[in-house]
Amino acid sequence: MTGVNDIRRQFIDFFEKDDHTHVASSPLVPLNDPTLMFVNAGMVPFKNLFTGVESRDYKRAVSSQKCVRAGGKHNDLDNVGYTARHHTFFEMLGNFSFGDYFKDRAIENAWNLITKDYGLSKDRLTVTVYHDDDEAFNLWRKISGLPEDRIIRIATSDNFWSMGDTGPCGPCSEIFYDHGDHIFGGPPGSPDEDGDRFVEIWNLVFMQFEQMQDGSRVNLPSPSIDTGMGLERIAAVMAGTHDNYMIDTFRALINTSVDLTGVKEEGDFKASHRVIADHIRATSFLIADGVLPSNEGRGYVLRRIMRRAMRHAHLLGANDLLLYKIVPTLVAEMGTAYPELNRAEALITETLKLEESRFKDMLGRGLKLLDK
Ligand code: GLY
Repeated sequence: MTGVNDIRRQFIDFFEKDDHTHVASSPLVPLNDPTLMFVNAGMVPFKNLFTGVESRDYKRAVSSQKCVRAGGKHNDLDNVGYTARHHTFFEMLGNFSFGDYFKDRAIENAWNLITKDYGLSKDRLTVTVYHDDDEAFNLWRKISGLPEDRIIRIATSDNFWSMGDTGPCGPCSEIFYDHGDHIFGGPPGSPDEDGDRFVEIWNLVFMQFEQMQDGSRVNLPSPSIDTGMGLERIAAVMAGTHDNYMIDTFRALINTSVDLTGVKEEGDFKASHRVIADHIRATSFLIADGVLPSNEGRGYVLRRIMRRAMRHAHLLGANDLLLYKIVPTLVAEMGTAYPELNRAEALITETLKLEESRFKDMLGRGLKLLDK
């Protein structure tokens, strides 16, 4: 099995060899963007490069960006733990062109990386294009040789990506992996598309417009490329599973949670271990990036994530404080790629201890009241 750390490295190496500058992940709190609560896609730190407000000394970039989707337009919190693929925190691998290459090179690179370097079988791949994007359709035909019925035209917003109510946007082309007919689901655009069989692994956005506050859409200074590949998803595909929680990072976190609680990952408890594994990542990375639990704004979202994890620790019957004990496993798994985790380990640990003690006191008082 190929591990998450190797897959991330392979992606970055591939694009570095194609003259992309490796840009380290930005913090989860957007640096220059009051419209966003958290960075929720790989393109966010590059927003001003797409719109032409800012320029840097590179026109191609590659990154593995920390993302949180737990508030605002992209909010996955309530699904986490109960599905194979929702997360509050995840990593988005992406390659970017700021007015440099456009659709042809983006499609060619994507195809080469997944079929050659990652070794995915062409027979398992299906792609979508925005319904009127003949150029992308023809490029896919030529570059991949996929039959026309596996290049599906989609007219909905699924194939028109936007970062939020405002900001850069454009038609997109998504690559799907077919896990096989033993799993329920249909190809994109079919009535059963929401099943787990066909999984979107990579989204190539052809950035052409900026959505303005007054509802108008203006052309960007030059057509650009933004791509997003969920690291957890591609790692699952490469591990031969449709379930993100089976990848090595999550196995390590869930095994720690199982060991510490003595509760097997079975029945209803499966979701609780998954919630804990997911939320410990969001919590730790948010604290490492300067967010602390509070009753408003970002701190409130963090507190909700932490309390959701604590509620599930309670469901697992954990009498002692649990969550801080999982932090060393996370640091071992992800601290090399994200050294900020190592630097903040003590702060993360103390914040979790304090918050979980308060939560337990509150729960104890509530239960006594109920008894009365
Ligand atoms: N910006 C591409 C994506 O989030 O899918």
